[in-house]
Amino acid sequence: MSETEQTVTFWDELTSPINLVLVAIIVYLVYKIIQSKFESDVEVAPPPKPLPKIRKDLTVAELKNYDGTQPDGRVLLAVNGTIFDVTRGKRFYGPGGPYAAFAGKDATRGLATGEVAASDKEYDDVSDLTSDEIASAKEWEEQFREKYDIVGRLLKPGETPNKYSDDESEDKKSQ
Ligand code: HEM
Repeated sequence: MSETEQTVTFWDELTSPINLVLVAIIVYLVYKIIQSKFESDVEVAPPPKPLPKIRKDLTVAELKNYDGTQPDGRVLLAVNGTIFDVTRGKRFYGPGGPYAAFAGKDATRGLATGEVAASDKEYDDVSDLTSDEIASAKEWEEQFREKYDIVGRLLKPGETPNKYSDDESEDKKSQ
């Protein structure tokens, strides 16, 4: 067997379809390993830090400041006189969200009547709601109690705010 023949045979071996496939697999695996190493080194953006809990009673006018447009992005809303921190549900209530109309507002009437709108009254006593509507608002309130932290009470005109302790771990169902 001549030398030229041997070289051709080796080259043929190397470029045989099965070897090409194997080389391709090896290259692919090496690429994947390098890629995964690179990815694990790259810092994934940490989830946004939850805002510190707040406990305070607010007037309707004060509540308006918490519509998610402030720098901290906090969103509060009230149902049946209880104010909830719904910042976690920002995709619902944040600016441009489907329920942004409730952000920083007393949402009782809207949730009771199924209208995504909040009254701009100084204080809506919702005394004209039907019993079905009241029941609906109550259900929403229960849902919020399950899901969100309580901030405080929505103050009627003339009411004074409660003093809450600084205890941040206040039980959300304490009210
Ligand atoms: C065509 C009618 C509606 C559809 C298809 C719809 C659909 C939805 C969906 C898919 C969610 C998200 C649920 C989740 O991911 O947990 C949601 C949330 C919500 N919906 Fe609706 N909705 C409708 C009407 C209404 C109406 C009329 C109101 C009240 C006036 C309302 C109030 C809400 C609220 C407050 C939330 C957020 C609840 C939370 O904070 O967890 N929706 N809706």
